[in-house]
This record gives sequence, C-alpha cells and structure tokens, in this order.
Amino acid sequence: MSKADVVIGCFYGDEGKGKVIDYLAADADIAVRATGGDNAGHTIKVDGVKYAMHLIPSGILSGHTTGIIGNGVVLNPEVLLKEIDNLTEHGYDVEHYLKISDKTHVILPYHSMLDVALEKVRTSKIGTTGKGIGPSYCDKFERSGLRMEDFYSASFRDKLKELVESRKALLKFYDPDNRDIDKVLDFGTIYETYSSYGQRLRPFVCDTITLLHKALEQNKKVIVEGAQATLLDIDFGSYPYVTSSNPTIGGILTGTGLSASDIGNVYGIIKAYSSRVGEGPYVTELLDATGDRIRELGHEYGTTTGRPRRCGWLDLVTLKYAKRVNGLTALSVNHLDTIGKFDQIRVCVAYDCGGHVTEDFSTNLEFLNRAKPVYKEFPGNFGDISRCTSFEELPDNAKAYIGFIEEYMGIPVKFIGTGADREEMLVRE
Ligand code: GDP
Ligand code: IMO
Ligand code: MG
Repeated sequence: MSKADVVIGCFYGDEGKGKVIDYLAADADIAVRATGGDNAGHTIKVDGVKYAMHLIPSGILSGHTTGIIGNGVVLNPEVLLKEIDNLTEHGYDVEHYLKISDKTHVILPYHSMLDVALEKVRTSKIGTTGKGIGPSYCDKFERSGLRMEDFYSASFRDKLKELVESRKALLKFYDPDNRDIDKVLDFGTIYETYSSYGQRLRPFVCDTITLLHKALEQNKKVIVEGAQATLLDIDFGSYPYVTSSNPTIGGILTGTGLSASDIGNVYGIIKAYSSRVGEGPYVTELLDATGDRIRELGHEYGTTTGRPRRCGWLDLVTLKYAKRVNGLTALSVNHLDTIGKFDQIRVCVAYDCGGHVTEDFSTNLEFLNRAKPVYKEFPGNFGDISRCTSFEELPDNAKAYIGFIEEYMGIPVKFIGTGADREEMLVRE
C-alpha cells in the first residue's frame, strides 16, 4: 500500500506550492486539494504559458494525473466552470481527469456578499479575498451548508430557498444601505443558475474518499496539494488574521478522508524570503526600499486579487513552528534566484521581545507585535543560477544559505526553486 505525500505552505501563503505539486505530479496518479476555495492562487508556468489555478488541483497539468477536489474545499461553481473551460481550451482532458467529492460545500452568491459586508463593518480589517470563504465555512459548521450531493437530491430546491432567504435577511442587517440585495439574491434566478451548474458538474461528482483509499491500496501515487498556509490556519495561525479552514496537516486529513497512517512525506514549502497578503502581524516585514526590491524582483503581486504582497526576510522562528505543527519531513526553498540578487541576505533566527530573546514562536498578537527580529547575515550575489542542474553546481554562497536553513530547521531541503519555470527546480536525493 502506498502513502500520500503532502505539500504544505509554511508561512502566509504563496510560497510556490503549485510549482512543487506540478513537479511531484510528473509521476503521480492523483493530486487532491483538501481545504480552502478560490481564495487560493497557484501559479505554474508550462512551456511559457502561465496557469493560475484556484480550485482545480495543479497536478492535473501533468496531463495524466487525476485532480480531486476534496470534501474540505468550499467550491464556487462559476469559478470552477471557468477553470474547466480554460484548461479544456488549452487541450487538457478535464472531463476525464477531474473528480469532485460529493461532500464538498458549495459557495453561493450571498457568501461573497456577506464576506465583503462583514469586512466593511469590522473595525480591525482582515483583508480577506472577498471570495466568500469565511461565510461558506460558517454555513458548513452551522450545519446548513449546501454540499455537491444536494444538487441531486429531491430537497435541493427547499434547502436552497431556506438558505437564500435567511441569509438575505442577515445581509440586510449587516449591509442595510445595499439596495441591490433583493435583485442579486432573487431566488428564482439563483435556483435556475445553480440547477444548471449542478447538472454541468454532475459527471465529476463521486465518493472521492473510497477512490483515494482504493488508489493507495493499489499502490498508486497520491499527492495532496495544500492551499493557504500554516500561519493562515484558523487554529494555528495569527488569529483573527487568518483564513477559515485548517491548511495544516490536520486539515489535510479531514479535508480528504485520508488517515494519519496514510501520510508519507510532508513537504513544507517556503520562499528564500517571505511575503504576506492581507492584514495581520509580520515580524520580518520590510517597509523600506529593500522590501520594495524583493516585491519587484520576485513579482510579488497576488495571483487571486492582484494586491501587492508585503515582503520581508526569511523568518526561521516561524518556520520551525510550522515544522512542529505539521511534522514536516523536508523543505522546498523557492525563489533562491530572487534572493541571490541581493549583496547581503538576512535571516531571522530569534525574536527579541523587550530583552527576552527566544526561538519559540507564539501566535499571541501582543507577542508578535512586540517581537523584533534578530538577524544573521549571509553573503548573496549568487549570479544566474537558473541554468544549474544540481545542488553541487550552485555557488558556495547559495550552498551556505541552504545549509544554514537545514541546520536550523533540522530537516533536509529537498527542492530548490531557481526560477518560475517548471524546469527551474533542483531536486536532491
Ligand atoms: P502558491 O500559492 O504557494 O502556489 O504560490 P503562488 O503561485 O501564489 O506564488 C508563487 C510565485 O512565485 C508564482 O508567481 C510562481 O511562478 C513564482 N515562483 C515559484 N517558485 C519560484 C522560483 O523558484 N523562482 C522564481 N523566480 N519564481 C518562482
Ligand atoms: P495560496 O493557496 C495568500 C489570506 C487573505 C487574507 C486571509 C483571509 O495561494 O497560498 P480569506 O479570503 O481566506 O478569508 O482571507 O487569508 N489568504 C491568502 N494569502 N495566499 C493564499 O492562498 C491565501 N488565501 C487566503 O489575503 O489575509
Ligand atoms: Mg498563491
């Protein structure tokens, strides 16, 4: 029986998970998404074409890997259908290779409206993507959510009506000045639109839990594509500046139906620097010209919302916490090419909280707001490393930087990103 390898973001998202999944998918039978929705944006460059994947697992881009949208995902059918059409236009046989769990929850129009309205009334903004993720998970945990299987049930119309009418009232409470609510949430229109989405998606919907377990029993290669990241986790992240799911290892299990003993390698994905979109604490953030330079060199603009990402140095204190919480077995360090353009590189190795120096991370907001990074400096100037085909070919400065990350984290760096293209990745055995 085979084990499933997992890809998890270690910081605040956008570490390059899509690119690593794309690499692992080259010989994978199945790639499954476990959590989140179209708040995710995973970029993969294939033969010069850039794909921004929001819902469909990036692994499908191998051309022979089945992509599964797991039960833990919240799915916007309109976004998914656009993604299906786009990939089909590019020659992918999505009809054959995509599966959706019958238990996946459906995002409805009022979810994004509530997301935006709630953000507007919050004194301390979260900076959500506005995709309706939080309100959709609220419906799920309140046990009212609409699941894919409900599209095909006799009670679909009644369930949808109850949801739309009750949430319309809620929306009017939070957004009393919005005169469009009745028009946008007209039940007849929503029923018609969503009935047709349900019919179009019907061939994809199945019991993905059995499918996954049978694949493992048949010794097939399964990979799990994490979305978001450890510090955006609803329990282990910088609450309330987080997303509404568990992108950490526990969510990988509950979002797919895999068990703890089904898991093989747990790959933690990091960049050679750091970034964050949205509000919330960020100890190594650089609000100066260096931060701007990282943003420009790394093209750090959101895949989903286009927002400029906040940028800073690598924070190993946070990453050690991510290793502990997820049980990481190895790392992928992306954007080594980007950081190598600096003369001097800094890495945060401890936090100084008013004289108390610690390597132990905490998500307590007061702690994070007080913490000052303690840096260790490394020489940069790696030159053009995009043509390197092995770790040995890297310049000594780059090797020393990776070596220090391994030493601090206590796990090997297995993958190294040397550019955005599919081929620009060094793999160490
Ligand atoms: P994800 O959400 O974790 O999949 O990451 P995103 O796709 O949102 O953001 C990562 C960005 O970095 C994308 O634009 C990738 O094309 C790019 N990228 C990934 N790895 C590398 C790398 O090693 N070097 C460079 N220059 N770009 C990379
Ligand atoms: P990938 O998978 C970066 C952030 C948002 C916001 C917070 C809550 O591409 O790494 P939400 O819409 O989820 O309620 O927003 O989480 N966020 C992400 N940031 N990458 C992501 O996904 C993100 N998904 C959500 O910016 O701060
Ligand atoms: Mg992203």
